[in-house]
Amino acid sequence: MTLFISLARRYPWQTLLTLAAISFAGLAEGFGISALLPLLNTIFSQRGHLGGSNEPAAEWSNRLDQLVQQALAAVGLQPTVAVLLALFTAFIVLKCALIYLANKQIGFTVVRVATDLRLALLKSLFASKWEYFIRQPTGKLTNAVATEATRASTAFHFGAKLSSLVIEASVYTALAFMVSWEATVVALGAGVFIIVLLRRLVQKNRRAGAKQTQHTQSLIAQMTDVLISIKPLKAMAREQQSDTVLTDTTRRLNRALQKQVLSKAALGSFQEPILILFLVLLLYTALVYWNQPLTTMIAMVFFIGRILKQVEKIQKEYVNLVEYESAYWSLQAKIDEARSAREVLQGDQTPALTEGIRIESLSFAYNDTPVLRDATLAIPAGSFVALLGASGSGKTTLVDMLIGLLRPQKGDIWIDDVPLPRIDIRHWRQMIGYVPQENLLMHDTVMANVTLGDDTLTEADVESALRAAGAWGFVQGLPRGIHTVVGERGSMVSGGQRQRIAIARALVKRPKLLILDEATTALDPETEKEICSTLQQLAGGITILAISHQTALREAAGWVYQVADGTVALIQSPPAA
Ligand SMILES: Nc1ncnc2c1ncn2[C@@H]1O[C@H](COP(=O)(O)OP(=O)(O)OP(=O)(O)O)[C@@H](O)[C@H]1O
Ligand SMILES: [Mg+2]
Repeated sequence: MTLFISLARRYPWQTLLTLAAISFAGLAEGFGISALLPLLNTIFSQRGHLGGSNEPAAEWSNRLDQLVQQALAAVGLQPTVAVLLALFTAFIVLKCALIYLANKQIGFTVVRVATDLRLALLKSLFASKWEYFIRQPTGKLTNAVATEATRASTAFHFGAKLSSLVIEASVYTALAFMVSWEATVVALGAGVFIIVLLRRLVQKNRRAGAKQTQHTQSLIAQMTDVLISIKPLKAMAREQQSDTVLTDTTRRLNRALQKQVLSKAALGSFQEPILILFLVLLLYTALVYWNQPLTTMIAMVFFIGRILKQVEKIQKEYVNLVEYESAYWSLQAKIDEARSAREVLQGDQTPALTEGIRIESLSFAYNDTPVLRDATLAIPAGSFVALLGASGSGKTTLVDMLIGLLRPQKGDIWIDDVPLPRIDIRHWRQMIGYVPQENLLMHDTVMANVTLGDDTLTEADVESALRAAGAWGFVQGLPRGIHTVVGERGSMVSGGQRQRIAIARALVKRPKLLILDEATTALDPETEKEICSTLQQLAGGITILAISHQTALREAAGWVYQVADGTVALIQSPPAA
């Protein structure tokens, strides 16, 4: 229920409106049913107190009955059969209209809850620190956006339904109280008894729901990992192992789902007999010991039956709520975690990059493992710089700090004469064209992979970027040219073609700083040479930083730095002009 309260706090208007509509609907139904009481009275009085009671009608007729009579008199209506039936119909129609309104509101809110949760997760993830981001398993996040958001909003739906049932039950209880307070107290006691008796089943379902959330999360996360590395798995016939792990998780999920089915089925079949037993006992006591008139009996049985039925429904909805709520908490925890790992962007100075980049005495360690120690290097504006170094020496790490993804523990990075922390980092990144070491394309067209959804870019922009990246030739040969879909992670084009599309993507926005992290490793010497000469032409206008082991790139670059033992050494300068 904390879930519903938490959501109600977040959507106060929607919840208030829904609850108001439900409350009025409950009242309307109450009025409708109350209108029937004098009718019963009328019928039975005319037929001479079939209840067998000796009491006169006025005395045994309950308070509710009298209230209705008074209300009718106040508005100048006679309690005739026609008036009472018309009132009953009118109130029930009103109730249905209000319920329609409430359901519509609930539906809208449910959809909004899911959408808002999804957006909150996406926003908080995109705004989170890089170190945090890379620790998140893709599958877990996909699952959160897809499954958990839906289940969380469904939980809200059950919460709203539960509230409406509670309101309805309160109306019935109030009416029943006026008919017979003793019977109402007994009915409420019975309701509490049923709830307490079957509480274990509810708790079982809560645990099974939490397990469902946990196993679905693991399943999707494992599945995503397997799919990403399916090729080596298949090539080495090792898919069997992954299959075993996935099957195992699927079975666990199945068991959790079975437990839910079992506890719900048990709840359904235990509730009814307990309820009937109470009703029968009550009826027996009332008939034999209380010697109640038949009209009161009918009204009483009606209300009490309804209260108990309502208790049954409330418990059922509560079971549904607890089953789904774990998804909400799991998703909310992810959102909160991502929010607390928010990337702090304090700088507001607009970078220019007219003089160059200076990296001074930079030190960085992942946890306690040092990678860079007092690294110093200069990248003059318009230069073409190559960064060499053994695998694991810290080249990518250095670039990540230059982009502002990682923060150095010591030292500074200066863009012209402004330190990076004082720079508007988003603006800085918008000036960068970046080709990562592992370039995986999106399952979309070549065009979309180059523009990354920026619709200010034209086909002509894309073509010139592809030409500069040495990709135009092969793209033209694709079945639908730049509108050809490149397949999952770009697997329908070759590794070298993927690299060239990624280079075009980095070039298309005419960056001021181009960063290539091992961007030409998959290219044949001829294509690589072509790209190198394009880069040489581009240098001067833009600054280029290329991490590479390739000799072609090294020869094309003016400045060459070597990263080794955590420090950076200049090993080649451009010939003096
Ligand atoms: N997120 C991380 N958490 C912990 N250690 C990391 C992380 N990323 C990289 N490292 C470690 O930091 C060191 C430098 O990594 P980096 O990726 O910068 O190397 P690199 O020079 O780019 O290597 P390569 O040429 O193989 O790409 C490596 O020893 C690596 O294992
Ligand atoms: Mg690297």
